[in-house]
Amino acid sequence: MQVQIVDHPLAAARLTTMRDKTTDNARFRAALSDLTQMLIYEALAGAPTESVPIETPLIAFAGTRLATPPLLVPVLRAGLGMVEQAHAMVPESHVGFVGVARDEATAQPVPYLESLPDDLAGLPVFVLDPMLATGGSMLHTIDLLVSRHATDITAVCVVAAPEGVAALETSGHPVRLVVAAVDDGLDDTSYIVPGLGDAGDRQFGPR
Ligand code: PRP
Ligand code: URA
Repeated sequence: MQVQIVDHPLAAARLTTMRDKTTDNARFRAALSDLTQMLIYEALAGAPTESVPIETPLIAFAGTRLATPPLLVPVLRAGLGMVEQAHAMVPESHVGFVGVARDEATAQPVPYLESLPDDLAGLPVFVLDPMLATGGSMLHTIDLLVSRHATDITAVCVVAAPEGVAALETSGHPVRLVVAAVDDGLDDTSYIVPGLGDAGDRQFGPR
């Protein structure tokens, strides 16, 4: 599996804001939005393009656009904080939704929402979720996408645990990971360490 770590001073600065426990909900959301812009920019480097005929004020010109804009799939709740910025970067994209919440006691994913196109054959899919911890929520989402014939899936995350990366790797699914940081590991409640806490709560308050 391809793992692309977005190693840039501006990404590191926004991630530091998100990690800081004194950062309030509004500043956390703003830093996540900024960082999403960088992650999407990197995730689309090398994406296939096609020529589009335009006219500049001077002459006819062969311009460029994405050949196939990806379907954006935020994983609720925390992925909601990434979708507006991702969609601003790729306004032609369609958006699907998956809702899954970890059971606090078992860390197992509990699905509650699925709103996706029926057929994803030939369509790149970007799954947006800031946190890849055990990988259970991401694998649930990827299973939904693969069952709809997706073969080109990118997990766009802010922080991953090595355990989550390994889970994606061993799944054998057609996925690559674009992430700002791979942290040390999980604690005994399956939170990422050093991490940034609960990414949903830090944007929207406790549920
Ligand atoms: C968080 C996060 C991921 C999941 C990661 O969501 O946004 O979806 O945990 O953990 P995993 O890799 O072990 O599955 P959470 O379940 O806390 O729900 P929320 O986004 O509604 O807060
Ligand atoms: N979900 C989060 O929001 N944070 C973690 O550290 C792990 C799962």
